[in-house]
Amino acid sequence: MQASVVIGAQWGDEGKGKLVDSLAKEFDIIVRFNGGNNAGHTIHVNSIKYVLHTIPSGILCEGKRCLIGNGVVFNPITLCEEIDTLQKQGISITKENFGISYNAHVIMPYHIKLDILRESQSANKIGTTKRGIGPCYEDKVARIGIRACDLGNEVYAKERIENALKEKNILFTTLYSDQAFVVDDVYDYIAPFMKRLEPFLCSVSDELANAQKEGKKILFEGAQGTGLDIDYGTYPFVTSSSTVTGGIATGGGIAPSAIGNVIAIVKAYTTRVGGGPFPTELLDDIGEFIQKKGQEFGSTTGRNRRCGWLDGVMLKEAVQLNGITHIALTKLDVLSSLPVIKLCVGYKVNGSEYTLSPHTLPSFDKVTPIYEEFPGWTEDISSCKRYEDLPINARNFVNRISEFVNIPILYISVGPDREQTIQHVS
Ligand code: GDP
Ligand code: IMO
Ligand code: MG
Repeated sequence: MQASVVIGAQWGDEGKGKLVDSLAKEFDIIVRFNGGNNAGHTIHVNSIKYVLHTIPSGILCEGKRCLIGNGVVFNPITLCEEIDTLQKQGISITKENFGISYNAHVIMPYHIKLDILRESQSANKIGTTKRGIGPCYEDKVARIGIRACDLGNEVYAKERIENALKEKNILFTTLYSDQAFVVDDVYDYIAPFMKRLEPFLCSVSDELANAQKEGKKILFEGAQGTGLDIDYGTYPFVTSSSTVTGGIATGGGIAPSAIGNVIAIVKAYTTRVGGGPFPTELLDDIGEFIQKKGQEFGSTTGRNRRCGWLDGVMLKEAVQLNGITHIALTKLDVLSSLPVIKLCVGYKVNGSEYTLSPHTLPSFDKVTPIYEEFPGWTEDISSCKRYEDLPINARNFVNRISEFVNIPILYISVGPDREQTIQHVS
């Protein structure tokens, strides 16, 4: 049985958490394969709000196994806090329903410090979440990272930490005029949290291989979105992991051929947190309307999300990169009452028209979107249960998106609650 995938097609916050939670009942195992607690997935079930950062969004569905793959970086302290918060909300986290890959890299206090110092003192700010994500992945690739399995042995762990701090302490004390980290202090700080997480450590890739043999159904849950991918996003305004489907093979430990359906989560408009180009951004009343009505502020940092029209060019590229088979269109309800709705169908750069994005940043910064316009609808659609219940103008907009990217739209989300999801076979 091939695994299914949920990924973000834009710059994150498309509503992946909500969709994964809605779909989880159909799967046995839900796996995160990239990113860390830079992610923030808000899920509403029966008027209760849950916010997940590292734990897969399938955890709210009883009896499912939720795994953190080796491609994820995790902070043991915030992960323990996340577990505590969920337990207080009545969600039990046990060895049966939760596991962390032995090989997942650990976000250490010095990673967070470096991220914060760079963001506050550098002239070229990315607008990161300051969770230490970039520095942790840097250490992984530089082969000086600390994996979950490295912290079990005190002597070895301290050797690794010492090695990782050799260059960094010079940076902290000279370039940033800050304090050096002390190996023993770092270890003593992190060790109790890792001790608590130790029972959850497992071999995710072996487990997934066995699950496949047993015919179990696996769902991979992407964090961030295609526009933030380290290779294909709007570099350098990206995150530090592979957010596209290709990242699943290495970040989850599964063969590429084991991947089947790829459901892209697409917001009916576009948002972006942090810096970087955003061709369809609306710096006017409409942008403000969408921001307010869509409650577009970050689940992780609380920052306002920049808002703009849906970018079909970006979507076409996401289809190409991810092998998208279906789309789940979210937050359509937010556009209700706008007289005109726009879809970007091309870019103009220096007098030439493009239907795929120019990848070099200076050109990307200068593109002018080419729009198709659609008449809006006035009805509140948040209680619509079937596609046929949607106003004709909403259906026309949905159908044009599907036609433009040549991908069927399988779900239409009209509100934050698990139940506010229309299944649509187009
Ligand atoms: P994720 O990071 O992709 O999981 O998305 P976030 O959770 O960061 O942001 C999506 C926000 O929109 C959350 O607050 C959701 O509760 C909310 N949401 C999801 N789908 C819908 C929808 O169809 N309509 C509305 N109004 N809100 C939605
Ligand atoms: P979810 O999973 C939106 C953005 C940050 C910043 C850039 C780099 O909730 O969709 P980082 O801390 O990763 O080094 O920051 O990436 N970013 C996100 N934006 N949603 C996310 O996750 C994001 N995770 C990172 O705002 O621009
Ligand atoms: Mg989010």
